[in-house]
Amino acid sequence: MNYTEQTINTDVVTNLENHLPQLGIEKVEDEILKGLKENPKYISPKFFYDPRGSELFEEITELDEYYPTRTEKSIIQTIGQKLDLDFSNMSIIELGSGDASKIRLLISQIPENDLAGIKYYPIDISQSAIEKSSEILAEEFPSIVINGIVADYIHQKSWVPESGNRLFCFFGSTIGNMNISEIEEFLKLIGSEMESGDCLLLGMDMVKDIEVLEKAYNDSKYITAKFNLNILNVVNNLVGTNFNSADFEHLAFYDREKERIEMHLKAKNDMIITSNSGKDGIYIKTGETIHTENSHKFSEESISKFGSWAGLNVEKILTDDNHWFSLVHYRK
Ligand code: AVJ
Repeated sequence: MNYTEQTINTDVVTNLENHLPQLGIEKVEDEILKGLKENPKYISPKFFYDPRGSELFEEITELDEYYPTRTEKSIIQTIGQKLDLDFSNMSIIELGSGDASKIRLLISQIPENDLAGIKYYPIDISQSAIEKSSEILAEEFPSIVINGIVADYIHQKSWVPESGNRLFCFFGSTIGNMNISEIEEFLKLIGSEMESGDCLLLGMDMVKDIEVLEKAYNDSKYITAKFNLNILNVVNNLVGTNFNSADFEHLAFYDREKERIEMHLKAKNDMIITSNSGKDGIYIKTGETIHTENSHKFSEESISKFGSWAGLNVEKILTDDNHWFSLVHYRK
């Protein structure tokens, strides 16, 4: 399936907008090839999530070693009692909605008489994820209105829906995939879009014991390795490169200074990669790495810094017993 030309299955969700074609396939191609020609080479982590990649990510979230999803979900489960949220006529905008299993937990806690006024806007780069999750949600909560938006929400601003009582949700510590200056720019954008009274729920994975962190990205079943290697298949499909994932090795480690997990793919042999563009090949040497992901870990300090960047007040910080994960409630 093509990244920008996914067809909309209107049997499943009636309200679905695809904003990806505005990015243009040439731009996606340029972006990927540019990263592969840089030194060191990189591929943006947003390209992990083709249908296979989304499936592998869901498997990751169920692994014993991968604590973030489980921990964040346990926190979301208590939102109803612990946060002061007004659900009447609320528009819930979820960035990176994925399988919608987190918003399901939140919506389950909304009082019955507020449910009919809820509008849910799942925004994700994967159309298949939005279709699948909307179908399940619509069945469970038939009275809510679902408006799916397929977009690269980091680079596209066209996704932001109308004003009103809005709750922005950015779960999963996906914000940790951006570098610090991108986070600042992104929070400034969200903050300027929000109006007085609007809220943001931000999931943040916290700095912790290095062993716990490294295990979470080097699981014993090698699912994370498969997920990392699958990005090469995604790139092959998008730009016609001839990567063979068997030529690479999964690498994930914590960098204490930068406070982040880095994932890389390490070449097992020399190779020349060609692509659709027909221009000169990409030379890769044995031992050379392609950087595929940063996953920043945060602190109390990051929580207040993010609030001031976005011009938002920290209303409440919810965390687990180990303080491994924080769900921050910001209000404008
Ligand atoms: C979904 C981006 C939060 O960084 O932990 C899981 C993705 N990468 N295992 C993360 C991921 C490797 C995940 N995020």
